[in-house]
Amino acid sequence: CGIVGYIGSKEAQDIMLEGLGKLEYRGYDSAGLAVYNGETIGVRKSKGRLAELEEKLQVRFLPGSLGIGHTRWATHGKPSDENAHPHVDEQGLFAVVHNGIIENYIELKEELIAKGYQFTSETDTEVVAKLLADIWDGDLVSTVRKVVQRLNGAYALGVISEYEPDKLVAVRLASPLVVGIGENENFIASDIPAILKYTRDVYILEDGELAVLTATDVELMRLDGTPIERNVMKVHWDIETAEKGGFDHFMLKEIYEQPKAIQDTLAGRIKEDKVDLSNEISLSKEDVQQIERIHFVACGTAYHAGLVGKYVFEKLTRIPVEVDVASEYRYREPIINERTLFIAVSQSGETADTLAALREAKQRGAKVLAITNVVGSSVAREADDVIITWAGPEIAVASTKAYTSQLIAIYLLGIYFAQQLEAKNVGELKEVVAQLQKLSEKAELLLQPEQVSIVANFAREIAKHQNLFFIGRGLDYAVALEGSLKLKEISYIHSEAYAAGELKHGTLALIEENIPVLAIATQKALYEKTVSNIQEVKARGAYVLGVTITGDTELNKSVDEVIHIPKTLDLLAPVLTVIPLQLFAYYACVERGYDVDKPRNLAKSVTVE
Ligand code: G6P
Repeated sequence: CGIVGYIGSKEAQDIMLEGLGKLEYRGYDSAGLAVYNGETIGVRKSKGRLAELEEKLQVRFLPGSLGIGHTRWATHGKPSDENAHPHVDEQGLFAVVHNGIIENYIELKEELIAKGYQFTSETDTEVVAKLLADIWDGDLVSTVRKVVQRLNGAYALGVISEYEPDKLVAVRLASPLVVGIGENENFIASDIPAILKYTRDVYILEDGELAVLTATDVELMRLDGTPIERNVMKVHWDIETAEKGGFDHFMLKEIYEQPKAIQDTLAGRIKEDKVDLSNEISLSKEDVQQIERIHFVACGTAYHAGLVGKYVFEKLTRIPVEVDVASEYRYREPIINERTLFIAVSQSGETADTLAALREAKQRGAKVLAITNVVGSSVAREADDVIITWAGPEIAVASTKAYTSQLIAIYLLGIYFAQQLEAKNVGELKEVVAQLQKLSEKAELLLQPEQVSIVANFAREIAKHQNLFFIGRGLDYAVALEGSLKLKEISYIHSEAYAAGELKHGTLALIEENIPVLAIATQKALYEKTVSNIQEVKARGAYVLGVTITGDTELNKSVDEVIHIPKTLDLLAPVLTVIPLQLFAYYACVERGYDVDKPRNLAKSVTVE
């Protein structure tokens, strides 16, 4: 989502619309503004593109020089006028905009409803507006601090109130927020591009910090009220660089956003060492026990997430799983009954083939669940149950953070089912849950400069080649397929992913002197077998880059270069293994000079058959 706020002497509406326009490149589903007009706070909001909000504002202008604005990427609640921000309390005395997720909003909402508050939206944000009114102690900053103490999660907030119309208050907890400093005017924004037209002087808020803006002053403090001194940062980026958060391409930005996407997708879904999806999906324990087979159906990268899903579900639940590409599934008369669970995986939720396969499965009586990144998308609307991946908008055509978030959603669902089925021993499942929660931090390690440069150097070397092989076994094979797709999509190097044990049945004939092979060996149970396959290609002159787990001292004896991924359970390794492969594709593409974010002939979302 995007936040903009203004306090000064100009028309806040114009400045905020301009700012929100600069955030729209991320693709939003609704927008809104709240402006204090000297007496009351006026609010206008609208589902759809910003232009629709602008139309409403042409009919009824919102005068005033204090305001907050928002463009929304739906998380809780579908895109609609009601769910758009800002949200207000019942008297309209407080208005709030919010990015991120408030994990305990259900408890808070129940508490407020019990006190007689009425809610008009399905969002987690509305509880903040109601809490502000409920906790109001006569001082805006102190009230905001008290409200924030009640919230769990990762969020950024902008708040205004009729009680103190000379102030704009902003809080950051793990969701980006900057303060822009002007001449007799100040700004808040979730992203720098939104305010770059007005100022290049900013404070970047850190987690657990609060900013109090007046037209002439900005005060920074910690949530406990301790004042903070901070130097003003000068932004030298142009708009285009600012949109990419300082990265050269959206794809690279999105690769680096993965630790956060992993964390966000887990947020609020683990309680006391267990996965709890009971608030999100309607399948009861009995329903889960009735499932006889599972069909994962998807396209492209999402299909590769489904392949990981097969290993995960079969291991955790012992329910047989099939995985199909949607364009095949829909025409192959799949065997389905009411004991079949169909799981569609789709970043956009709009892929025509996936949607058609979903309809086919539904019509044949399957229960239908969707894993998607877009709340309110067609796939989400038509499925019986939905698990949202909280990766945030993905712009680069080559999918990265959506894939890792899909994997996280698959693990969560697999563990949840295993809990219901009591198929696995409880201690073992707890260990999977514990390790799942460490993945975000481990993903961060793979993005450290020294790690990235090993991959980048290898990629530059490989960029001269026309052909390449990826090999792996088990889950490593599933990741190899995704690594190979990434490379093909953006660097246009031909590559094939092979189950390492299958090479000798044909493809080994293509291995000749100097052909690059990327060999993945993270799965302990299959390690020796994979190493034998690596030796087969090495003996025929291949130039091999190995990917293995930190601590392995064997693989480097059989390969030319090694990349280590942090230790984790075999089952969870794909989330980490894929990161160097994404970077590999990225640097190979950059070296070849192609358009990273918009590869030829491809579209982000394919809504035709
Ligand atoms: C397109 C994109 C791929 C994506 C696939 C499925 O082909 O280029 O990156 O994996 O569609 O998209 P979905 O939105 O359904 O995940």
